[in-house]
Amino acid sequence: MTELTIERPNEKQRAMLEARTKHVGFGGARGGGKSWAVRTKAKLLALRYPGIKLLIVRRTYPELINNHIQILRQELRLVGTYNDKDKVFRFRNGSTLHFMYCAKDGDLDRLQGVEYDVIFLDEATQLTEFQMKTITACLRGVNDFPKRIYYTCNPGGQGHGYIKRIFLERRYEPGEDPADYSFIQSLVTDNQALLKRQPDYIKQLEALPEKLRRAWLDGDWDVFEGQFFEDFRSAPDAAKCAAAGLSPEEAAAQGRWTHVRRPFDPPAGWKLYRSFDWGYSKPFSCAWWAVDYDGRLYRILELYGCTRNPNEGVKWTPDEVFRRIREMEDQHPWLRGRSIEGVADPAIWDASGGESIAETAERYRVYFSPGDHKRIPGWLQCHYRLRFDEEGLPMLYVFDTCMAFLRTVPTLVYDETRPEDLDTSGEDHVADEWRYLCMARPLTPKSPVPAVPAPLRWGDPLG
Ligand SMILES: Nc1ncnc2c1ncn2[C@@H]1O[C@H](COP(=O)(O)OP(=O)(O)O)[C@@H](O)[C@H]1O
Ligand SMILES: [Mg+2]
Repeated sequence: MTELTIERPNEKQRAMLEARTKHVGFGGARGGGKSWAVRTKAKLLALRYPGIKLLIVRRTYPELINNHIQILRQELRLVGTYNDKDKVFRFRNGSTLHFMYCAKDGDLDRLQGVEYDVIFLDEATQLTEFQMKTITACLRGVNDFPKRIYYTCNPGGQGHGYIKRIFLERRYEPGEDPADYSFIQSLVTDNQALLKRQPDYIKQLEALPEKLRRAWLDGDWDVFEGQFFEDFRSAPDAAKCAAAGLSPEEAAAQGRWTHVRRPFDPPAGWKLYRSFDWGYSKPFSCAWWAVDYDGRLYRILELYGCTRNPNEGVKWTPDEVFRRIREMEDQHPWLRGRSIEGVADPAIWDASGGESIAETAERYRVYFSPGDHKRIPGWLQCHYRLRFDEEGLPMLYVFDTCMAFLRTVPTLVYDETRPEDLDTSGEDHVADEWRYLCMARPLTPKSPVPAVPAPLRWGDPLG
């Protein structure tokens, strides 16, 4: 009989190994022993369930080789064999451990028709939401083996927003069951095995620039390299609440040090706006806003259409879009019978291709004035709105039902070459439409706004 020795897990790794939810998030900082936990869980499942099919994913092939394949081949040499061509390790008991890298969407083609019982996405935040969802769609099979997906992660990277939503913020969309998700945070200080062997590792993390240090040493998901709206807060800052003698729940209920609020019926006297950004081959974004007597904006409703992400439905024609807007305004109790001022991307008046989008809108009695599309002054207006006063009150709130805003705005990053602007290859349609609205009701900041910080470079100095 051959024996497989498994090292002792630390407390956090033990919690990960024992987790039983369908989706398990693990990590949240660097050096927390994540890849070790992935390999260990894979070994335990393979031995416990003869015939189980497991998959480990990393972004690139070299990362897969260095972090997993080489180590596992060595550790498992007595219990099975590795086939390099298929990138699969076959255990003698019939279990298989497959390896896959996904550097670009095209790499997903290899998933045609395959199914797995348990999938490990190691460094999941380096994959996009689309890639994660496409890979995890292969979790199926008619057998009694556990069906589970493990995500190890650090703040930052293209999947940051998605991982943060499902594991840190725990905001769920229709079809997602909160009980299916659990997250175990592991910091480098939880990984004594590493600190014993490499006592300097923690010093390396401490020496990082402030934002990276907060992300990778403290596991702070609200900062990431180059995040454009780093001033946007989806929950109150714990230190600010403590200083004010409030619990985070009380502060959130009072709308202090946060931009996200529970929906309520906007009073009849508040003025209403509709902001709109059209995308010809991209998503459109439409939002309704209420303005309180202090001039504070509340994003109360939205309609967002996506054409690029196949998970989010099909493309609507302009007629369809405005028919739905008309329907919202005729039927929604917050909008019905109210006067609504519209502001939109000035490009919608372009009639060079026949009827302009603005003309289509008018056929549905949806009217707009052209928004001011100066970008830098517009973004400054958005930042002014997000600033908290001494009491922790901002000039803008978003209802927690406005998923398009909450999903896309925090993921936008600075442009590499134009540091005061954002990178327009991101999903920026909500931000654009929000910017047109802010320019329609500009604020004069009471005290000077600090200059927008220049982007730091997203890199991995630790290798
Ligand atoms: N429980 C453990 N016992 C022994 N060594 C461990 C343990 N957990 C992690 N390590 C070692 O610590 C180092 C860092 O762990 P790793 O899993 O690579 O971290 P991460 O993937 O979070 O960056 C690796 O050399 C790993 O083998
Ligand atoms: Mg790792």
